[in-house]
Amino acid sequence: MLSLIVAVAENGVIGKNNQLIWRIPKDLKHFKEKTMGKKMIMGRKTFESLPGLLPGREHIVITKDKNYQAPKQVTLIHSLKEINQYISSKEEVFIIGGGKIYDIFINQCEKLYITWVHNSFDGDVYFPIEKLSAFKEINKKEDLDKKSGFKITFSTYVKM
Ligand SMILES: NC(=O)c1ccc[n+]([C@@H]2O[C@H](COP(=O)([O-])OP(=O)(O)OC[C@H]3O[C@@H](n4cnc5c(N)ncnc54)[C@H](OP(=O)(O)O)[C@@H]3O)[C@@H](O)[C@H]2O)c1
Repeated sequence: MLSLIVAVAENGVIGKNNQLIWRIPKDLKHFKEKTMGKKMIMGRKTFESLPGLLPGREHIVITKDKNYQAPKQVTLIHSLKEINQYISSKEEVFIIGGGKIYDIFINQCEKLYITWVHNSFDGDVYFPIEKLSAFKEINKKEDLDKKSGFKITFSTYVKM
């Protein structure tokens, strides 16, 4: 089963200059809880934006560059169809970004975990919000991240 996890500003922005724009500890905790022990599929740019390898999770990085070098724990793949071998009906596998990879894979996802960040930001990478029309929200929990001061909503969507 393929799932997707993302934090999105109200105007659709998810990043700028190959970084996250915000630091929201409650959302980082949520991301960790959902992805722990799972496979995470990401674009090469998102991989390079991480602070390092995320413990307890398998990193699958997609790049067209056959000479791309990554630590030995990382699985590199070079085409979209190679991803199929890492997706099984039994386990939940996560698409973790970024903009390009969300856009390519959202329609194959059964479940979306979206953290809405209730602000607008100036950014250069967007989540394809228009594609949410194929999903329905099955639960949401509003919250305030006291450390960052941001109001957030943890929403879960499933394919209609
Ligand atoms: N808010 C969030 O939850 C969140 C989550 C993740 C990321 N982000 C943000 O998103 C931004 C990065 O997103 P992005 O859209 O720029 O990049 P990205 O989706 O992370 O990665 C794009 C790269 O993936 C590879 N790729 C794409 N299509 C491919 C294909 N068909 N075959 C093989 N490789 C393919 C290419 O790598 P090569 O160029 O090496 O070929 C491409 O440059 C950053 O700002 C990051 O902080 C935000």
